[in-house]
Amino acid sequence: MLPSMFFCSVLCIAACTIVTRAANILVFMPLPMKSHFRGFQPLFEELAHRGHNVTVASSFPLDRPLVNYTDVGPFVNKGRLRNVMELVHMNFVTSVQLKWDLGIRMSDSVMSHENMKNFVQSSSNSFDLVIIETFCQEYTVAMGHKYNAPVINLSPAMPWVSVSKWLDVPATYSYIPDMCLQSTGDMGFIERLKNTISGLMQSYADNFVYFPKMKETMDTYITYDGWESRPPLEQMLKNVSLTLVNSNYYAIGVARPYLPGIVEVGGMHIKPPNPLPENLQTFLDAADEGAIFFSFGSIINLNDLPNEKLEIVLSVIQKLKQKVIIKWTPNDGVKLSENIMTGSWFPQNDILAHPNVKLFITHGGLHSIEETISNAIPVVGIPFFADQYLNMKIAEEKGYGKLVNFFEMTEESFGNAVKELLSNVMYKETAKVQSQVFKDQPMKPLDLAVYWVEYVIRNGGAEHLISGSIELNDAQYFLLDISLILFVLIGLIIWLCYLVVAKAISKKLNTD
Ligand SMILES: *[C@@H]1O[C@H](CO)[C@@H](O)[C@H](O)[C@H]1NC(C)=O
Ligand SMILES: *[C@@H]1O[C@H](CO)[C@@H](O)[C@H](O)[C@H]1NC(C)=O
Ligand SMILES: *[C@@H]1O[C@H](CO)[C@@H](O)[C@H](O)[C@H]1NC(C)=O
Repeated sequence: MLPSMFFCSVLCIAACTIVTRAANILVFMPLPMKSHFRGFQPLFEELAHRGHNVTVASSFPLDRPLVNYTDVGPFVNKGRLRNVMELVHMNFVTSVQLKWDLGIRMSDSVMSHENMKNFVQSSSNSFDLVIIETFCQEYTVAMGHKYNAPVINLSPAMPWVSVSKWLDVPATYSYIPDMCLQSTGDMGFIERLKNTISGLMQSYADNFVYFPKMKETMDTYITYDGWESRPPLEQMLKNVSLTLVNSNYYAIGVARPYLPGIVEVGGMHIKPPNPLPENLQTFLDAADEGAIFFSFGSIINLNDLPNEKLEIVLSVIQKLKQKVIIKWTPNDGVKLSENIMTGSWFPQNDILAHPNVKLFITHGGLHSIEETISNAIPVVGIPFFADQYLNMKIAEEKGYGKLVNFFEMTEESFGNAVKELLSNVMYKETAKVQSQVFKDQPMKPLDLAVYWVEYVIRNGGAEHLISGSIELNDAQYFLLDISLILFVLIGLIIWLCYLVVAKAISKKLNTD
């Protein structure tokens, strides 16, 4: 008895303490896309915290230094904020073109930066793992070749077609909507047509108009000892070990099939709420009629809205009996009523966790949706671009939110949406259900993400996670060759049958 117990406990200790050696990890996400980076930054910090040596090449260095976390960058010159209202007139075709254009222009300016050249060409570092984002910067995968290290890809939202195609994960146009389609999984004929066009553009047109530029960027800027012998970009993209997706299709996405090497870790940035600063705590505690939090995120400035739209919003909000906190720095001379507090920044998740907060008015950005769902707060969403429209459509379909179209917004439509969400308890009830679904996971998203990163390190790149179909071309994958042969065979059989029958009939006729 005793020896076997001893043996069991040794086994258990061995199994329970799968140690991953501290690794040298390079995060290479140089393009200045803040929300993409911020969504994954908690993972980088956590990896450093667990003893890995993390080097982060990005446009967003930490404010305070962190042990085991080294920043390289930024690679852009500050002060080029654009008025994002220019982006709002996108449709399913122009959004793909915009992506191409954005990727090519930003990549050129970032990769030609002096700091970047020094970093890429230096031969003093070595890394065991390279973490990249491929959206608009596919060439970053070459850093895996430079350091002869496995690569993990980060997807800042549900992977769209131009990412899915390299992983061979189904991106079926009939029910998986493109991020920018402004549609959900429940697509009618026109929507499916648009989704197919956008999908084909990303699957095929992409390879001719956009991809050659990415290759050019790679061969111009990512040069190091031995770069001439690296595999083609396509092959390196297909060889990515793992993809972490900042989404959670149960509560905020569309249920779709993934491969084992694609893992959803949405919600990593959500921490248990911190105590509020005193002024906010007092303001919210005094909100006997409830409170509303209003924020359009970090890149949409309320001052950029056309005047008549801002007036609509303000006039609705000032008439409410609820208290309202707005993330906004009003221009001089703007008079606001007593129930409103404004500020340039607020601890959003901590505010949403206050029991008096009844509603969140948002632009529908992914992180905001994750935070609202985590706190079970209903949303009124006024989406502007990228995935915001889709996020809000899903919120509306699931029943915890209402979408207000910015271009058609009137005092009535916005006011009604706000009143409906405040008065109808169904929205709160649904938000609670979705919140439960969002949180009901075997592991916290951050732990899950760390687990999978370490899994790739422990298993030397974990090539077994890569799809078995990666070597097939489209004709093989869709069985076009086999179908052709089968059609010919079946045709042949039918023809033979016809011949036999025709002969039998004519014989019968002749003998009669
Ligand atoms: C830094 O990494 C070392 C091991 O490489 C680890 O012992 C230490 O705890 C880490 N420091 C912090 C603050 O996480
Ligand atoms: C950790 O990374 C930094 C920056 O890349 C590097 O300078 C340092 O030598 C690394 N430390 C170890 C112990 O590998
Ligand atoms: C694929 O990645 C692994 C590391 O995960 C590497 O050893 C291998 O050489 C790569 N193969 C190609 C063809 O890039």
